[in-house]
Amino acid sequence: MTEQKAELSVLGGRFIKAFHHMISTVKIHQENNQLIKESITHFAKALSEISGGMELEMLLWRGRFFIQGEKLHYRKEIFSLINEMLDYFPQRGLRGLIFRPNFKQSSLKEFVIFARLLNESAGREDPPGWLEKQFKAYEISWVEILKEMEEPPELELKKKEQARQSYMHAMVAVKEVAQKVSQRSVAGIRKARRLAQTMVDLVLDDESLMLGLTTIRDYDDYTYTHSVNVALLAMALGKRIGLSQIFLEQLGICGMFHDLGKVEVPKEILLKPDMLNTGEWDQMRKHPLIGVHRVLNLHASREMKSRAAVGPFEHHLNYNLTGYPKTHFVNKVTLFGKILRIADTYDALTSERKYRPRAFSPDEALRLMWSKVGEDYDPILLKMFVNMLGLYPVGTILKLDTGEMGLVVDYPRDDERTRPEVLLLEDDGQGGLKGGKTLSLEERDEKTGSFLRNVLECHHPTKLGLQPAQFYLQEAS
Ligand SMILES: [Fe+2]
Ligand SMILES: [Fe+2]
Repeated sequence: MTEQKAELSVLGGRFIKAFHHMISTVKIHQENNQLIKESITHFAKALSEISGGMELEMLLWRGRFFIQGEKLHYRKEIFSLINEMLDYFPQRGLRGLIFRPNFKQSSLKEFVIFARLLNESAGREDPPGWLEKQFKAYEISWVEILKEMEEPPELELKKKEQARQSYMHAMVAVKEVAQKVSQRSVAGIRKARRLAQTMVDLVLDDESLMLGLTTIRDYDDYTYTHSVNVALLAMALGKRIGLSQIFLEQLGICGMFHDLGKVEVPKEILLKPDMLNTGEWDQMRKHPLIGVHRVLNLHASREMKSRAAVGPFEHHLNYNLTGYPKTHFVNKVTLFGKILRIADTYDALTSERKYRPRAFSPDEALRLMWSKVGEDYDPILLKMFVNMLGLYPVGTILKLDTGEMGLVVDYPRDDERTRPEVLLLEDDGQGGLKGGKTLSLEERDEKTGSFLRNVLECHHPTKLGLQPAQFYLQEAS
């Protein structure tokens, strides 16, 4: 974090705390009460400190507060009040507030009115509209209301660009390590670790965005895109089961280097367009143990290396301990191993490979994996994985009963991933497709109450010659 960001984070925490204190105090006490005076003086001070005489934007998006466009990092001590505030804004139909510099000229009484109106707006029919009228009537001109709506495009684009860049950097980092390892020179994983940390942040912030990225496929760099995809899928699943940030980072590293042992498998075998013969399979089956060996030789702390070695060692080991490598000293697959087994198989099945006519569509892959539940995959984890990806995973192309085609870009509710949001694909006039508007498949006909659009078929994007990640990232532009 830069010094400036760190300072903003501290001041931001203080500001939200003062804001929370002010609105809670005016709820309980009378106008001329000393406590109210104190809380308002305190808020005004925090506001002028953080705004530095400029306009101040306080925004809530997807459960995070942004002050001047920067995400606020929560400290433990403000956690519970932040949680309260996360309800406070949506209850009032607010996305945020902008404080104008002329707040300095306003009286204490005006602040009290402002805070009371905010509190009272919750029960109104159109809280933001009501607030705007009230502010006008009381001549409160130093605060502007931001109504709840879609994410401001600049913010969304910035986030998408950051996500895409982290993905690409992670891929390059894996590639660099693999190249160094294959040349037998010493490779460090500091860069990979830093990128894993960034990816954890991004997954925690916006799971759908990161899952959308896993549809990136690069034919020539398959092993590397595959490694980053596995890392992301594993981290997203890890997040679902509540792993801490440190564990998620380690899981990401495991994913990034799970196939490192492939540096010693001849290219002819890796890229063979037909099925492998027995001898070739034997060679292929060596990549987990070679991977362990290579990971342990990396330049990193012993603890980090022993954690990271789980990736190569266990990713082809089944839940019931079949699979490979054959082991006699292990009687249980670790949690990391079980997660990676699922993430690895899913990404491999949904990727295009030379030795089969086409990739499995996401729903086909999940169905196939489900047929091996309890044998190859941990039942609970696989269930959570299917839930996480939804009936139609992000990045899938849907054929709709309206004749339209849509790319699944998000799910409005994480707990019930049934009817996604889709980006409609339109003819671009040059024989290709371009992104149109984004809409939800939950939209219903006002009169009949039935859904406006239903899914007829679910396609793998490559069947239509599409790279969904491209669309996905361009969606907001
Ligand atoms: Fe592998
Ligand atoms: Fe793999």
